[in-house]
Amino acid sequence: MATLLVKNIGCLQTPVGSYSHKGKQQAENLKLQNAAILIEDGIIKEITSDGILPSEAEDAETVIDAEGNLVTPGLVEGHTHMVFGGYRQNEIPLKLKGAGYLDILRAGGGILDTVRKTRAASFEELYQKTEGFLDEMMGLGVTTCEGKSGYGLDFDTEVKMLEVLKKLNADHPMDIVATFMGAHAIPEEYKGRADEFINMLCEELLPYVKEHGLAEFADVFTEDSVFNYEQSKKYLECAKACGFDLKIHADEIEAIGGSVLAGEMGAVSCEHLIAINEEGLTSMAKAGTTAMCLPATSFYLGADFAPARKMIEMGIPVAMASDFNPGSCPSLNLQFVMNLGCLKYKLLPEEILTAVTINPACAINSGHLVGTLEQGKQGDLVIWNAPNMEMLCYRFGSNLALQVIKKGNLV
Ligand code: NIG
Ligand code: FE
Repeated sequence: MATLLVKNIGCLQTPVGSYSHKGKQQAENLKLQNAAILIEDGIIKEITSDGILPSEAEDAETVIDAEGNLVTPGLVEGHTHMVFGGYRQNEIPLKLKGAGYLDILRAGGGILDTVRKTRAASFEELYQKTEGFLDEMMGLGVTTCEGKSGYGLDFDTEVKMLEVLKKLNADHPMDIVATFMGAHAIPEEYKGRADEFINMLCEELLPYVKEHGLAEFADVFTEDSVFNYEQSKKYLECAKACGFDLKIHADEIEAIGGSVLAGEMGAVSCEHLIAINEEGLTSMAKAGTTAMCLPATSFYLGADFAPARKMIEMGIPVAMASDFNPGSCPSLNLQFVMNLGCLKYKLLPEEILTAVTINPACAINSGHLVGTLEQGKQGDLVIWNAPNMEMLCYRFGSNLALQVIKKGNLV
């Protein structure tokens, strides 16, 4: 049996308490001083505090001294578009001259530019590039992440992207949950025929992706100039009938009903929500849909920040993720997202931790496995170059992850 002991943990902080599969609303955190944690065969066997060591500590094969630092659960990255061809740094001058995100998309750039590059990229190219991103994420403290398709918008490329994620999930220490996002934009060959494109997704791609176990979730970009309420609803109804759990990119720029639909359809999470209104908030609160807030995207787009405090007050579970993608958030640094959550959403350190661990874990159907440190869960944790969570909210621009442990192995 492979056992790992992490000892001399100055502060072990983790969300606790009962949580539904849809997320935890309160930010209750357990804080243990002078703690230790024993992981056996990848699973947490015992957590102790106040200088007491776990009962089988002496038999541990590997011992790591946390040197009095903070230990938290491994971070859970709940929203990325990490498989893509090329980059879009060429949009920077356009942005500086005042072109909006949707202006660039309407002119055939933006997502459609990445679609051209992703269609042209081989499986191997996409695999290697994404593998590099996973390494980078893990070095920053992420031990489980979500990844979406959506830069193919045709059968072969959507499947290629999902196959890349599937192979990386098997090969890389990161646990990856895949989301099919065929409804990410209207491809050039369907210009002016969004309804027909939705029909194609419903008839060809959704059933294939489900049958081949390529994704657990389906997602749609409900936005002006992309998919409207009715088109999104049709796609999500097909997805639900195929057995997918649902996510919606909604109210990023304009509130056209996406967050209302998320509640109506019982979506597990709803993403962005910068422009969410009272109706959307009420619908999500009623359904228990997790708000996947993406503050680094707000930062990069120069947009407003989602009303995260109000969401918490209304009982909506708040998660935070990077939204890593080549257009609206070219950063995969979840530590920076934590800084923004504190500075821009005004979330407290314990709310921040909940928002990057158990809540996103629940939003990708992994809350029973990861997202907290407790007996029986996966031994995924981070030893930080910090004495407490306050320090993680405060220092920005540096990588404070000292050691990252995935399923009891140092990575
Ligand atoms: O979540 N908003 C839609 N999709 C991504 C951006 C994709 C892109 O610009 O390439 C997002 O921000
Ligand atoms: Fe996104």
